[in-house]
Amino acid sequence: MKVMVVGGGGREHAIISKIKENPDVEEIYALPGNGGIAADATCVPEIGATDLDGIVKFAKENPVDFAVVAPDDPLVLGCVDRLEEIGIPCFGPEAKAAIIEGSKIFSKNLMKKYGIPTAAYEVFENADDALEYIKTAPLPTVIKADGLALGKGVIIAETREQAEEAVKSMMIGGKFGKSGARVVIEEFLTGPEVSVLSFTDGKTVVPMISSMDHKRAKDGDKGLNTGGMGTIAPNPYYTPEVADECMEKIFLPTIRAMNQEGRTFKGCLYFGLMITPDGPKVIEYNCRFGDPEAQVVLPLLKTDLLTIMQAVRNETLSEVNVEFADESACCVIMASDGYPVKYEKHYAMTLPEDRTGIFIAGATLEDGTLYTNGGRVLGVTRTADTLPEAIDKAYEAVKTIHFDNEYYRKDIGHRALEALN
Ligand code: AMP
Ligand code: GLY
Repeated sequence: MKVMVVGGGGREHAIISKIKENPDVEEIYALPGNGGIAADATCVPEIGATDLDGIVKFAKENPVDFAVVAPDDPLVLGCVDRLEEIGIPCFGPEAKAAIIEGSKIFSKNLMKKYGIPTAAYEVFENADDALEYIKTAPLPTVIKADGLALGKGVIIAETREQAEEAVKSMMIGGKFGKSGARVVIEEFLTGPEVSVLSFTDGKTVVPMISSMDHKRAKDGDKGLNTGGMGTIAPNPYYTPEVADECMEKIFLPTIRAMNQEGRTFKGCLYFGLMITPDGPKVIEYNCRFGDPEAQVVLPLLKTDLLTIMQAVRNETLSEVNVEFADESACCVIMASDGYPVKYEKHYAMTLPEDRTGIFIAGATLEDGTLYTNGGRVLGVTRTADTLPEAIDKAYEAVKTIHFDNEYYRKDIGHRALEALN
């Protein structure tokens, strides 16, 4: 079998590493992939993940049996629709279902309509109304750009000045382009956050092992929001009781709601949850695997990933027994110092010979040497019987990797350990 994976970050490397375990897979193409992924797949650097015409053309010229579209942008743009049109079976939602991530206004209205627990909110189409509203809104208040904004479209304003500044930058200053032309302003919720990725074919929903992201750049959850500086799984706040409540009040109602709207979701539906004093609530939906959540969840998956993905595509997920190891995982992201603001790249990297669990996010390969080529450079995942062991092993492995300018958080998993004790 030949498989095409659209995307080129650490998440895609984790997906490709897992797909490679299937003995029927003879070739994997990564569009664009990256210098590190090149060890596991044939990369096509000239075709970017949002170049839908290029992707379709490539697939016509290099027939593939199955495609996985991993990042949000191509999904929202309709990459799966385009590939299915030319007869390539895909894992990932069609554009009309990917809107669950592509528009916060859509997802908030969906949750309101179907009674799915989430923060109270208002939608604003023009800046004057939003500015008027925040004069009296309870603080802190949360301002979200409607559309995709590389995970940076959420501002938690502690003061009215910050709220005003956020509204102005998005709605007047055009900070996120069209994505910020409309905003959602919502209630500030408190409680531990849990990421639950799920496989769904629109009929069955199978939650994967839960995880915890560490979004802030600095230790102690300080500093700016990033794409994610590390993850652990499972998340100790996601108890069996919470899981049952989520299934009944959030997961199944969301699948049914999407069907009801004529937007059946097939693929990986990511539930970003907050366990509030009033129970679990949805902070956000993503239409794809999280990055770096995939880097801890997939290494714990015991069932063949490609088999699950094909069953999702063929709407036979109920026939597959999806199993996870009864273990823990920790992924530490090694970044370029200065990320997410300003950083230098193109430093030579040294890696151990055995690259198991090292998922490269941003690197180029030149004459056999890997050079850093991004804010997030790589993630190191280790699994073990217990979370403390997985964390120790991940940090041990980090010490075997070097590049100038390297930066990583030293406290990935600490909050989870506190919760366990
Ligand atoms: P998102 O991009 O929607 O995941 O939001 C980024 C982060 O902002 C989340 O992971 C939360 O930590 C925080 N956040 C988003 N919405 C809220 C909310 N209503 N209350 C409190 N924190 C929030
Ligand atoms: N790690 C958060 C996300 O992928 O959206």
